[in-house]
Amino acid sequence: MLRFDIITIFPAMFAQVLDESILKRGQEKKKIAIKVHDLRDFTLDKHRKVDDRPFGGGPGMVMMPQPFFAAVKKIKGRRKAKVILTSPSGEPLTQKKAKQLAKLKDIILLCGHYEGVDERVQSKLADETISIGDYVLTGGELAAMVIVDCVARLVPGVLGKAASLKDESFEGNLLEYPQYTRPADFQGMKVPKELLTGHHQDIEHWRQAQSMVRTKKSRPDLLRKAA
Ligand code: ADE
Repeated sequence: MLRFDIITIFPAMFAQVLDESILKRGQEKKKIAIKVHDLRDFTLDKHRKVDDRPFGGGPGMVMMPQPFFAAVKKIKGRRKAKVILTSPSGEPLTQKKAKQLAKLKDIILLCGHYEGVDERVQSKLADETISIGDYVLTGGELAAMVIVDCVARLVPGVLGKAASLKDESFEGNLLEYPQYTRPADFQGMKVPKELLTGHHQDIEHWRQAQSMVRTKKSRPDLLRKAA
């Protein structure tokens, strides 16, 4: 069982995404658990304030360290959880990273906001900081959902038996080959004849070649790593 604890100022954003489909079944099967916590529950003042102006000046607000430290202390307890901060300045999320995280038992995700989070959260509270891509979101909630989604599906037993993880995109640093289903001719757009032969070796060969073509076109950076 892999447990995710998410600490956020927008707890209501999560249920719709995480309590549906595969993640819902993963939770029902007790392969994963997802708990969402309101950061404001860990503030000390009556206004439940979580942010303040940046030292040194500048626009916007910075999230204060105190609520995050209090939340992690309470939620972590004696468990050995990995604490991850979401931030565009983090290490990029990759399939490789997702596989490493899927081996853990306990992950606590901290959702950043505004101009950023007090640096002491990143340097003293979080074990790692993860970015989901080279763009800036309005907050870390979507990033946390992306992390939960791609990690949870790699936990054994979360995906159905039929689903295969071995031919997916990013395996061996290649993108997945194109897939087709019936009809073989849709409005004149035909399925490649190689897939209709029933000859497994030829199909395998065609798929490998197509993986290369796709990767070369969309992600030449991956191809250099694929060798
Ligand atoms: N918060 C804002 N942008 C982000 C990103 N790209 N990845 C993770 N957290 C973020």
